[in-house]
Amino acid sequence: MTSVATTPYTGQKPGTSGLRKKVSVFQQTHYLENFVQSIFNEATELKGGLMILGGDGRYYNTHAIQTILKMAAAFGVKKVMVGENGLLSTPAVSCLIRKYKAAGGIILSASHNPGGVDGDFGIKFNTANGGPAPTLFTDAVYERSKSINEYQIAEADDIDLNHQHSCSIGNMHIEVIDSVADYADLMEHLFDFKTIKLLFTSGLLSMCFDAMHAVTGPYAREIFGKRLSANPDAVINGVPLEDFGGGHPDPNLAHAEELVARLNAGPTAPGFGAASDGDGDRNMILGRDFFVNPSDSLAIMTANAHLLPGYKLGIRGVARSLPTSRAVDKVAETMGIDCYETPTGWKYFGNLLDDNRITLCGEESFGSGSDHIREKDGIWAVLFWLNLIAVKQQSVEDITRSHWQRYGRHYYTRHDYEAINSEVADELMQNLRTQTTSLTGKEYAGYKVQLCDDFSYSDPVDHSITKNQGIRILFEDESRIVFRLSGTGTEGATLRIYIEKYVTDVTLHDMPTQTALAELIEIANDIADIKKRSGREQPDVIT
Ligand code: G1P
Ligand code: ZN
Repeated sequence: MTSVATTPYTGQKPGTSGLRKKVSVFQQTHYLENFVQSIFNEATELKGGLMILGGDGRYYNTHAIQTILKMAAAFGVKKVMVGENGLLSTPAVSCLIRKYKAAGGIILSASHNPGGVDGDFGIKFNTANGGPAPTLFTDAVYERSKSINEYQIAEADDIDLNHQHSCSIGNMHIEVIDSVADYADLMEHLFDFKTIKLLFTSGLLSMCFDAMHAVTGPYAREIFGKRLSANPDAVINGVPLEDFGGGHPDPNLAHAEELVARLNAGPTAPGFGAASDGDGDRNMILGRDFFVNPSDSLAIMTANAHLLPGYKLGIRGVARSLPTSRAVDKVAETMGIDCYETPTGWKYFGNLLDDNRITLCGEESFGSGSDHIREKDGIWAVLFWLNLIAVKQQSVEDITRSHWQRYGRHYYTRHDYEAINSEVADELMQNLRTQTTSLTGKEYAGYKVQLCDDFSYSDPVDHSITKNQGIRILFEDESRIVFRLSGTGTEGATLRIYIEKYVTDVTLHDMPTQTALAELIEIANDIADIKKRSGREQPDVIT
């Protein structure tokens, strides 16, 4: 074991989901080591404990794993379980932490951000409940990173990550495990695999899952291919690649082009389509020529969960992030269960799940999950939908349309302005903040502002308060606009504008989303003065 002298780097502050930077930033001397040592120094429970380690397979993944293993040995971690080939999806890490009662886990991923030498890299720490470390923890790690002056590392050879085996570094035991098996077993426990399998073997349904050359490839092949006997071409882009094949592993209509084309290929297209992101926690659900908005997906799951084996006892409560549409609120109201509104980021669901207040939760950003783990879970969401199709014997489109019929439809869109100048973005948000009180009561093209504030969240479990989480403007007709800045970008600032409109009249459920929301999009541009301030005519990404 050696102690290596180092000096602090500025900016090792974790964002919405861990520390995320360009690969070149992580490649600076001692950059990774400084941050990892700061985690260890804060997570003293790892000393003598079990740690789970793996990543999404992007460039720098295995290098980081080898370094972290040696540092873990020097720190006194008792045992590390690491995924074969260094691969573990974010939900799989959460599952393993819980199943094997680990003290914590480290996930190497920048989620849906592009990878490769010129792409992004990231590192997240999950605590013993299996969930992302809370802000208190990440703030403390950041503080430590500002004054770090040495780190410890064992002098050892790299270990073989390419097959399952056991070995050790010093006193630390290492087990290279099957990345998929434990997770797949958990899925089999939650869903009715027999009924889903019948959908495929009887020829009633064929599916297409786009793993986007990211971590879910091996999971999808095992679960959809082997355990569920789906059609042979069910998984596309199923081999994890360090640069995700040059693609952007974000499951949305813009980035999963190949999948969308297959689902829109007419009457012979598969009846079900889905995709997941870099680290396997996001999901996009498609029917034949039909897109399910993630906020709707959460609402539909909530309304139907009791039909599936893992949730047959019913739902205790639900939670959604602030920008997520209020479709699920309508379902919760009808069911008489609690519905919590939290800041953006999965970490805010942790306390609600641990305190048994909620069973399901989700975000508009293609994330949904339940109390089975403490992360959002892409493959889980896909299985949830497959199980629903099997039970209801209805298409994705029919399930969604009958949901709208019953609860009304929330037209919903998100407009992202990426990599804008940080100062310009801060000024834009500041300008909105100063307007919050004066906007109330004002009317724009017939939409009257009922309430406008900068969202603040008071956690009902630990009573912590999180302020300045986004400007929300609620209108009297239940329409809503939310503005916030992204906490995951690595270049300048990304402004996100979330727009929704609630429509109960079924004859109005067939409009193109951007048309249905056109007036509100104009109002959002007006109030925030986006075009003038950002110098942009159009958003970069619309989801
Ligand atoms: C984005 C999403 C957010 C999600 C996070 C991590 O964060 O908006 O819902 O939890 O990625 O996947 P943002 O960049 O908006 O801070
Ligand atoms: Zn992700």
